[in-house]
Amino acid sequence: MKIVILTGSPHKKGTSNTLVNEFIEGAESNGYIITRFDMPFLNIHPCIGCDHCGMSGPCVFNDDMPKILDTIMDSDMIVFATPIYYFGFSAQIKSAIDRFYSRNGQIQRKHLKSVFIATAWNNDNQVMQAIEKHIEILIDYLNLDNQGTILAKGYGYTGASSEKHYKEEAYNLGKRI
Ligand SMILES: Cc1cc2nc3c(=O)[nH]c(=O)nc-3n(C[C@H](O)[C@H](O)[C@H](O)COP(=O)(O)O)c2cc1C
Repeated sequence: MKIVILTGSPHKKGTSNTLVNEFIEGAESNGYIITRFDMPFLNIHPCIGCDHCGMSGPCVFNDDMPKILDTIMDSDMIVFATPIYYFGFSAQIKSAIDRFYSRNGQIQRKHLKSVFIATAWNNDNQVMQAIEKHIEILIDYLNLDNQGTILAKGYGYTGASSEKHYKEEAYNLGKRI
């Protein structure tokens, strides 16, 4: 299985990337082929809604996104990993998701398997509510076959007390998919 991973944190050794690394270790033990794109370190222009692509065609921006979209179209599974920023995806990864617009139908028809990983500082009932709903609707809209979601609350920095539990969860998810 080919897996493409999109990450959204500028902290290379932060919490969401820690869970991604665990997930990769688990997935690689199954022999899966993984391609990872770290959005904060790539050139991804936000969608400007010009509709040049007509939701199915070339984008006016020839940045890193066409390559990412080609890789998505050549993959069996897509993984989204983000820190929670104001109850949602970070802008870096959301910009990439918005750029799906130019291949919207192709992505929907591909029926990709998916995994979502999010990490947040807070540990209350509210912190993951919005992203949980957003993920649920994205799965439905993009016709994803979701294989697992890790919503890591109370995990605001590496070394937090919740880290061990979430690392195990991420490794096990990578191993069982
Ligand atoms: C701009 C910004 C917004 C944030 N918003 C929230 C939030 O709404 N709720 C929360 O619990 N933590 C919030 N945090 C904290 C991060 O989600 C948390 O520290 C996370 O573990 C960071 O992930 P990373 O280490 O992968 O970058 C925010 C942090 C930043 C920088």
